[in-house]
Amino acid sequence: MGKSELRRLAGALKHFLSEQDEDEFITTPAADATPASAAGVSRPANPKAMQEGSTLTIDFRRQTAPAATSNTTPMMTTAQKQAALAELAQTIKVCSRCALGATRLNAVPGEGNVDADVMFVGEGPGYDEDRQGRPFVGRAGQLLDKMIVAMGLTREQVFIANIAKCHPMVDPQHPEKHGNDRAPNAGEIACCRKFLEQQIAIVCPKYIVALGGVSAKALISDAKSLGALRGQFYNLNLDSVQLPRPVQILATFHPAALLRNPNWKKDAWKDLQMVMAQLGLKGPAK
Ligand code: URA
Repeated sequence: MGKSELRRLAGALKHFLSEQDEDEFITTPAADATPASAAGVSRPANPKAMQEGSTLTIDFRRQTAPAATSNTTPMMTTAQKQAALAELAQTIKVCSRCALGATRLNAVPGEGNVDADVMFVGEGPGYDEDRQGRPFVGRAGQLLDKMIVAMGLTREQVFIANIAKCHPMVDPQHPEKHGNDRAPNAGEIACCRKFLEQQIAIVCPKYIVALGGVSAKALISDAKSLGALRGQFYNLNLDSVQLPRPVQILATFHPAALLRNPNWKKDAWKDLQMVMAQLGLKGPAK
């Protein structure tokens, strides 16, 4: 790598690291992460530092086998993708397959460029997303926007979705409360899985960035910790559809975790750079 390339990457890293915010989801600080291991997989010094997924004691591995080849979704035209996603969004908006359908204000199907090379998948809508019906519009979303820009992309160029489409609340009796967010449970994830799989098959991005442990475990179908899953690409296999072309998935930190632990941003940046390298992205234009 030449000096100018190094300078440009350093500039993009500085830009990314310069943004530090509080996040309304987060109430307790967590421990630091260690630098990347020789294998390129970053692990926390203290395994409990990966608290972002630590409330998850559930094994998210899927029970069903990946889809049969006969169920292959064809690669669609842009117009076909838009129509298919719009129809799917309508189905999601009236879904009541799990209890979250009764307490949500708005379902949050996802949004973005139907021809995106990169799809980001979070865990589930929070307070702001529930109100607006759009993914990642709160403080974590503002950081996600910055991560996207640091990669040399814009929000309009990517697709953003969630594992769960409705707001999982700690106290569903009080949707007006702040700090009432929780990760979706295994049943909720299972109910929404088909929706996400259809979105992925329709958009068929080249890369999916799984944001956080819930998303990574659900999509990579592995109960390993986020720390163990990070640092390498996986071939995505879906339950309900066979993808029209291979899709690679990479796990990184959830932006809400980065707001809580800004020192993890360096490792998140390394993850994003792996995708950038594959796509020939050079970071933001100067
Ligand atoms: N966190 C998520 O995982 N998804 C959102 O849409 C917002 C916050």
